[in-house]
Amino acid sequence: MFSRCVSSPFHTSRIPSSLTSTAARHCRSSGLNSRVDGRRYISAYGYIQAKALVYSKYGEPKDVLKLHKHSVSAPNGTQVNLRLIAAPLNPADVNQIQGVYPSKPLFETTLGTPEPSAIGGNEGAFEVIGTGSEVKDLTKGDWVIMKRTGQGTWRTHAQMDESQLIKIEDQTGLSPLQVSTVSVNPVTAYRMIKDFCDWDWMRAGEEWLIQNGANSGVGRAAIQLGREWGIKTINVVRERNTPEETEALKQELKDLGANVVVTESELLSGEFKNIVKEVTKQGKEPIRLALNCVGGKNATALAKVLAPGSHMVTYGAMSKQPVALPSGLLIFKNLVFDGFWVSRWGDKNPQLKENTIKDILQLTRAGKFKDIPVEEAKWSWDTEGYELATAAQGTLSGYRGGKGLLTFVD
Ligand SMILES: NC(=O)c1ccc[n+]([C@@H]2O[C@H](COP(=O)([O-])OP(=O)(O)OC[C@H]3O[C@@H](n4cnc5c(N)ncnc54)[C@H](OP(=O)(O)O)[C@@H]3O)[C@@H](O)[C@H]2O)c1
Repeated sequence: MFSRCVSSPFHTSRIPSSLTSTAARHCRSSGLNSRVDGRRYISAYGYIQAKALVYSKYGEPKDVLKLHKHSVSAPNGTQVNLRLIAAPLNPADVNQIQGVYPSKPLFETTLGTPEPSAIGGNEGAFEVIGTGSEVKDLTKGDWVIMKRTGQGTWRTHAQMDESQLIKIEDQTGLSPLQVSTVSVNPVTAYRMIKDFCDWDWMRAGEEWLIQNGANSGVGRAAIQLGREWGIKTINVVRERNTPEETEALKQELKDLGANVVVTESELLSGEFKNIVKEVTKQGKEPIRLALNCVGGKNATALAKVLAPGSHMVTYGAMSKQPVALPSGLLIFKNLVFDGFWVSRWGDKNPQLKENTIKDILQLTRAGKFKDIPVEEAKWSWDTEGYELATAAQGTLSGYRGGKGLLTFVD
């Protein structure tokens, strides 16, 4: 199992305990509050103090993300009150804050922010801490994830309608990390492998997929699903700072089940064709699918080794370079180039998304789906906004020890 957890060196500095919302101020002045930890209050009316990482304009996370303190009222009807367990810092979250992501967040004043603001984050695991009288399927202590992206997960607490949530039916054997990161990356890998290629299941172990960004969350999921489903994988990563680190990364992916791991320079070298010929037994074992999250020359090189009639699915653009395709690949090999966006797919296929998540969690419980390495950023009541914004800023800096993960430690 490969799991690494590095805590960010967050300083602890005290945040004044004054409440910001009118309702919460009312509760304090009426003397109806109870002190819970020397700093925070829960009102006799059930108001909870909460914080959210919000932005009111697009820009770099370090410049625009602010911590906003507010309160959450007791749940009514089908409403559910939630407490954050963990939420990842995904590249798409940062692109959304930068304003360069196609799905735009809602800028609202519902949390009492001085300006209309959006809450960062698109996925995460939450614990149910309160339910309205008409809530049917959730009770205190249940773990839930968001049904759709775009609901804002970088917040200590939330109030949502039951219909917006997916219940994790059985928490046994699952960790906060696994649940909080299940709905985007593993689902993306799962659907791209299943939905874009008619695998010949009679040839299990004799067909291949090739992918770049292979050490990403999506890439690691694709390796493990390929291993489970009898699809061999050629995986491309970027060189690390030293040959030893590169070898260690290659080994890490092989331990997950990767059959071949090459660096980007090896992919772009003249030698790559020979490597492919050898491992695919002179092409008798076809490479039928390419997964591309990088673009540029890297993507072109993946396309060149695909068998005739195969698909390349582009789902990311980490190099910010366009995908350039030699015409011959289209004319003589009849390759098909598709794109995939899990947000749109999930909105169109909500039940299939839930089933996919269940399937992945089942593999996780069975020990067949290993943890991604993470850089944990602990979020306590005293954590300053700039500390969280810095953790978010690091998401696109490259060569990270792992994916950023906010964990709420109230
Ligand atoms: N379309 C969809 O539905 C969908 C869903 C999920 C994710 N995505 C996209 O998939 C990609 C991976 O997401 P993730 O959450 O799995 O990422 P992640 O775990 O945070 O990993 C980021 C990956 O991108 C690589 N990378 C960063 N900058 C690069 C560059 N300039 N050239 C080549 N590789 C670079 C990193 O390699 P190093 O370790 O070498 O830095 C790493 O493999 C992102 O582009 C994300 O937006 C798309």
